[in-house]
Amino acid sequence: MPIVQAAPAKLNLALHVTGRRADGYHLLDSLVAFAGMGDVVVLEPGPLSLRIEGPFAAGLPVSDDNLCLRAARLAGAAAAIRLTKNLPVASGIGGGSADAAAVLRGLARMGHALPAETERLGADVPVCLASRPARMQGVGEIVTPLDPLPQVPLVLVNPGVGVSTPQVFAAMERRDNPGLPPIPRFAGLADLGGWLAQTRNDLEPAALAIAPVIGQVLDALRATGAAFARMSGSGATCFGLYDSADRARIASSALKQHGWWAAATELAPPLTPG
Ligand code: C5P
Repeated sequence: MPIVQAAPAKLNLALHVTGRRADGYHLLDSLVAFAGMGDVVVLEPGPLSLRIEGPFAAGLPVSDDNLCLRAARLAGAAAAIRLTKNLPVASGIGGGSADAAAVLRGLARMGHALPAETERLGADVPVCLASRPARMQGVGEIVTPLDPLPQVPLVLVNPGVGVSTPQVFAAMERRDNPGLPPIPRFAGLADLGGWLAQTRNDLEPAALAIAPVIGQVLDALRATGAAFARMSGSGATCFGLYDSADRARIASSALKQHGWWAAATELAPPLTPG
């Protein structure tokens, strides 16, 4: 029986950069949530192999250093892996880390132990392994699960511009920002939006300087009635939170008119257990 694992899009609802380690990696304090859509990984017994299909397969040629293959090697396991790439590549919403985490979760269901230090595959792998709302600290290795978030309607938008994560980190002006304020249990959108307004994505100004279209995406999200809009990770994907699913769907259609990729979904629990 093939094992199917969802790899939901990861969102940094807030991302503060609080310092830098001696090895150059940045210390983060981030509220991470997962969307109700994402890539899908299917595993079957067999020698290690990878096939990539789906709307964004063309952006990700199969190569030996693909994170799905690296994850399986780190776990010392083999499987035939099929990845359906529904999310834009290298876009600040988990992508490779979410896929690698889905492979590791699938391999665990096949009886392989989870490897240690999964953050070495990608900073977002540990939080994507949990695939539930969490506070992420350190360089990504400290993951503290949080209460479920309200299932707020959400739109993801990517303008089709690839932004290099190392370049964004390098362009940052300040690396010693304060951490996140205490994270309460959120009752709904107003509550969550109020808290988010006290926080930042510290990578946003640097990413905007590199790819000014991100500013247009944020303006467009606000113009479609988003109660809150921000960039995720190092960009270029941005998200908007809406007070109704209808408003989110209409916004998503309008944003596609710019020639951007957009999808209406929701802040949601994992798509599949395990
Ligand atoms: O781990 P990931 O592949 O997301 O990181 C890409 C690059 O982003 C790293 O090579 C590093 O230059 C930078 N980075 C960082 N601090 C982090 C995460 C990533 O400086 N916490």
